[in-house]
Amino acid sequence: MKDNRRFKNKIIYQIYPMSFCDSNNDGYGDINGIISKLDYLKDLGVGILWLSPIYLSDFKDNGYDIIDYYKIHPIFGTMEDFENLIKEADKRDIKIVMDLVINHTSTNHIWFKEALKDKNSKYRNYYYFREGKGKNPPNNWNSSFSGSCWEKVPGEDNMYYLHLYTIEQADLNYHNEEVIEEVKNILKFYLDKGVYGFRCDVINQIYKTSLENGKFRFFNCGKEHYESQPMNHVILKRFQDEVLSKYDAFLVGETSNITPEIGNEFLKNGELDMFFEFDHSMCDMNSFVPIFKKKFKAKNLINPIFKWQNAVPWIGVYLENHDQRRSVTRYGNEDKYYKESAKALCIFLLSLKGTIFIYQGEEIGMLDLKGNTIEDLDDCLAKSAIDSAHKLLKISRKRAFNLVNKTVNRDHARTPFQWNSKENAGFNRGHKTWLMMNSNYTQGVNVEDELNDPNSILNFYKEMIKLRNENDTLKFGKFIKVKSNKNVAKFIRESEDETLLIVVNLTAKGVKDNREEKEVLLANDYEINTKTLKPYQGIIYKIK
Ligand code: NOJ
Repeated sequence: MKDNRRFKNKIIYQIYPMSFCDSNNDGYGDINGIISKLDYLKDLGVGILWLSPIYLSDFKDNGYDIIDYYKIHPIFGTMEDFENLIKEADKRDIKIVMDLVINHTSTNHIWFKEALKDKNSKYRNYYYFREGKGKNPPNNWNSSFSGSCWEKVPGEDNMYYLHLYTIEQADLNYHNEEVIEEVKNILKFYLDKGVYGFRCDVINQIYKTSLENGKFRFFNCGKEHYESQPMNHVILKRFQDEVLSKYDAFLVGETSNITPEIGNEFLKNGELDMFFEFDHSMCDMNSFVPIFKKKFKAKNLINPIFKWQNAVPWIGVYLENHDQRRSVTRYGNEDKYYKESAKALCIFLLSLKGTIFIYQGEEIGMLDLKGNTIEDLDDCLAKSAIDSAHKLLKISRKRAFNLVNKTVNRDHARTPFQWNSKENAGFNRGHKTWLMMNSNYTQGVNVEDELNDPNSILNFYKEMIKLRNENDTLKFGKFIKVKSNKNVAKFIRESEDETLLIVVNLTAKGVKDNREEKEVLLANDYEINTKTLKPYQGIIYKIK
């Protein structure tokens, strides 16, 4: 039976397993590495860990291209290691959430391989195989990464398969009851092992109502045929009724282009317990051509986040994840106000209503890479964005890289975690890491140094997490926006017997802001003037 308060009560920490801790020194993080850091996570105060995919995969999209849902990739360890992780986490009252990637499988999944081998195989209908239209693909949709979302089937005349992401990620066909049954079995398999729930990858795209041409758009052409379709709701409801409701499990959906109306649709019948919105994550990118940077203005981050606070009863709130560049680089000020801005973002995020998601490294103020070049790139999205920009905008690859590197290059968030200032930041014992390290681990951006510094970002996160964990108003109270300077996040969290006022200046300038002297619960600078706020000053007051 579901215990809603349990997941509402806890802070979720996202682990990108490839980059968290490499226990066997092969250059990739692994499950035993995660186990070795459970005490750190317990001490940090987080209660649920979401692991990005650890299943067998070709790593064309770093694990989001699954070859076998029932196997753990040997790079990460074994199924036994995974069971051990659940057990060890449980001893510390920490729950494990898996990434559920069911919109597509790897083209190396046995289902897809069987479908290719034999046109009459039942697996043909697990995917979308369609004939082209003359010399063109079956429709005009484009992939979320780049180009058409149809790829020719090798060795077959004029036959294509659908892939909304890379060509190695073939979309599953949810018109087929057998696919639904397969997913139910995957859910059961992991729930029976004791996982607490799933973060559901691109979950509002799984059902394609029709394969007709889409309205012309540069990005996501075709989306009106596959995004948040009525049958999508029906399928998720079935997962709930037929499997999830029998466990104390929860689902958080990754839902692109969601509106409050559609969001409420997903929540109202318990299809999802919460979802992520992406409006705020676009605040410093051009919305038509995201590889172009848009000057960051704090109000463009604050307003969409505020909009969502009361638009739905509950939401997953985050500033970072494995698909976003680092928040201090994007929204803070990594040079002059590094610590202040990191702590201001911490206060802002952890005072919001909803379930808080912290991404690994956010708590130590990890930053975007510096000095990385096109040769260092791993991210498939960045690579395809460069290809498209090179072709469509007729600019050199190097120039395209420079654009992409400031906007959609996901490598920035994926560099190995920084545990100390020793070799490879203590991520491993010196083996070349799968992705370049951020060299700032030698300059104090690492767990060990930060634990020893009372003013560090990490110690501030610990304090803020503790405050949230112990304060029901922050966890469950109402959210009320307060009028203020447009670049200041000012809001109230209110419960029956307590009222908190949160005020965070998200700019590098001092601003006027009138408050009355009240009890301060936490601030990133205790020299408080009630008429102004210093650059990136953030304060939580108890006003009742
Ligand atoms: C969203 C995931 O977060 C991202 O990393 C991945 O590339 C796509 N879905 C495709 O699975």
